Amino acid sequence: MTTTGAQWNPDQYARFRAERSQPFYDLAAMVEARPGMRVVDLGCGDGALTAWLHEHLEAGETIGVDNSDTMMAATTKQAKPGLRFQQHDIAAWNPTERYDLIFANASLQWVPDHEALIPRLYSFLAPGGQLAVQVPMQDEHVSHRTAEAVAEEEPYASALGGYTRGFDRVLRPVRYSEMLWEIGCPEQRVRLNIYPHEMPGYEAVIEWVKGTYLTAYETRLGPELFASYFAEYEKRIEAALGGQRPYLYTYPRILIWAKMASSPRR
Ligand SMILES: C[S@@+](CC[C@H](N)C(=O)[O-])C[C@H]1O[C@@H](n2cnc3c(N)ncnc32)[C@H](O)[C@@H]1O
Repeated sequence: MTTTGAQWNPDQYARFRAERSQPFYDLAAMVEARPGMRVVDLGCGDGALTAWLHEHLEAGETIGVDNSDTMMAATTKQAKPGLRFQQHDIAAWNPTERYDLIFANASLQWVPDHEALIPRLYSFLAPGGQLAVQVPMQDEHVSHRTAEAVAEEEPYASALGGYTRGFDRVLRPVRYSEMLWEIGCPEQRVRLNIYPHEMPGYEAVIEWVKGTYLTAYETRLGPELFASYFAEYEKRIEAALGGQRPYLYTYPRILIWAKMASSPRR
């Protein structure tokens, strides 16, 4: 199935590549590598880190999945034998084959209903397969609360038809642990990491959020209205964080690793 997601800008997203890559590497370090695995990277972005994962794990086959036209176009640079990319919406992804590793770094926060999603993804694992997921938990930060507050005001609220990006997708860390236990997962690790990013000032925070969280509003508002939304967002972030140079942008992220039993339970 082919769907078109938010219009991500790969160049804007890549502006903080070093900071954004660290959780990817931390998540990869939780995986038990076995040569020749069949791997899928859900929400693979421009595919650069998918290519790294493929090499790092010595995977037999890796598929990167993303629903953004712009990100998909960027993946063409990375494709090679054993590594390919497919355009799918994760919410509707329903593969016929089973995977040794389902990896999703900083993507599932865009997909609703984790209570259903996590068990569904787990069901696509082969025996002994692993699920590795990283989701940001940044809902309490002024950078994200402000984005929501502006979206709830006019004229944006009407233009968005009541849509807000919202914080209801990502669950509390303990809930992921409980869910894995409830579906009978025998081995799991769930942790909350705080990533401290020293920024020169508030402008860098704005650029960061523009490359990710605000894409949901940019796609829905269109260029003109998004320009005024963004100007208002900038003004409020400057007012909130403007006096602090350098500024420490703390970023909490949940890292989840789960491993299915090698043979079905009796
Ligand atoms: C923050 S980026 C992360 C990219 C990459 N995993 C990384 O670690 O750099 C989120 C990616 O998830 C993709 N995405 C968001 N919602 C999606 C969905 N429902 N189905 C497929 N991909 C989605 C976006 O297009 C984007 O490329």
